[in-house]
Amino acid sequence: MSSALEREDEGDIGMNLGFIGCGIISEAHLRGLAELKDAGGPAFAVPAVCDLRHEMAAAFARRVKETLGQEPNVYTDYREMLEKERLEAVSVLVTHDLHHSVAEDCFAAGAHVQMQKPLAISPSFGRKMIEDAKRYGKVLTLSEPSVLGAANVAVSRAVRGGLIGNVYLVLDYAASAVGSGFFAGTPWRHMKGRAGAGWINDHGVHRTHSFLDVVGPVEEVFAYAAIFEKVRSHGGVTIRPTGEDAAVTAFRFANGALGHWMCATAIHGEETWGVRFYGSQGCLVPGKHAALGDGTVVTMAEIVEQYASGVIADPFAHSYLELYEAVKSGKPPISSAESGLEALGIVFAALESATTGEPVRVQDVITGAKHAYEDTVIEEMA
Ligand SMILES: NC(=O)c1ccc[n+]([C@@H]2O[C@H](COP(=O)([O-])OP(=O)(O)OC[C@H]3O[C@@H](n4cnc5c(N)ncnc54)[C@H](O)[C@@H]3O)[C@@H](O)[C@H]2O)c1
Repeated sequence: MSSALEREDEGDIGMNLGFIGCGIISEAHLRGLAELKDAGGPAFAVPAVCDLRHEMAAAFARRVKETLGQEPNVYTDYREMLEKERLEAVSVLVTHDLHHSVAEDCFAAGAHVQMQKPLAISPSFGRKMIEDAKRYGKVLTLSEPSVLGAANVAVSRAVRGGLIGNVYLVLDYAASAVGSGFFAGTPWRHMKGRAGAGWINDHGVHRTHSFLDVVGPVEEVFAYAAIFEKVRSHGGVTIRPTGEDAAVTAFRFANGALGHWMCATAIHGEETWGVRFYGSQGCLVPGKHAALGDGTVVTMAEIVEQYASGVIADPFAHSYLELYEAVKSGKPPISSAESGLEALGIVFAALESATTGEPVRVQDVITGAKHAYEDTVIEEMA
């Protein structure tokens, strides 16, 4: 962070936060809370954590104590935790098939929720979660790191502010060398009844949320998808994946820009990654620089300094600042549940297109008018 933190509410009254799910990503959340504290942000206390697996919850509780100085109570049943603890908000970090039911239980217990991306396993559950939050009068924010933190906020503000002129094209190649193993060591990510789809959902929403934030709404998509690896195995576990391991999608944005996106885990040997935004006056490569048509190169550090100097660097720290400000002062978060639903809608529009062989309007998937792919997810969930 290069200058004072951009904050809505300086009268810090703190927040009691519980965790449900203490797996891989919980560590990044803890680091985010620590960074927010170090930066002079609002004071979060974590009095309780829960995981179905006691050893995961207990290990996380120890790390919370080392990092924040207070040892949380450990639970294996989140409903018991919600009943016994006085939690103002809960961070939910479980598999995608549980997002909507755990969120509703938290709202019913009087807690606000920060949900992990994707907002839900599929759009209809995302719509339900937004309705539930309204019904219970609770805040629902999304921890979507691709639109949070100084670097991401700076890219979005720079492009929307005209640094590269009018956006013509978005390119994104995300080809991860998972081969025939499991992404992040988690088999559930390859089963659509638990994850909603293959990697195009788990990773894909990061990208579609960023496209939305930087360029604006996507109107229509056309896609092909495939499952190349029919069997996946690692560490003695073997599965027959039902989630796609490769998807190639073309977009048309509402502002006329076009996009080309490949998202795949069926990659052996060498992977490739990269996002580029091309406009009428230059190209922006997130994490690197903007190369303008007149030969000027603007470094990422300069872009951050110019557009997001008061924004905290760590995206997870930023997500907790957003949660705090949404609860305490009603400030609309960048990473809102509504934008998360739209990001999920783009992913499911691509999958709908790959299923039907037709171009698909994103709004038709968000509203539920088109659901041929989503039906297959719901069938597998059952
Ligand atoms: N960069 C990111 O934003 C990012 C990265 C990774 C994961 N995620 C998201 O975070 C969530 C969790 O992912 P992960 O990688 O940590 O998965 P994980 O499989 O490592 O951890 C999930 C944990 O939830 C626990 N769990 C499952 N059901 C539970 C229940 N009913 N009650 C309590 N605990 C329960 C499991 O035992 C497990 O420890 C997913 O939504 C995922 O998409 C986000």
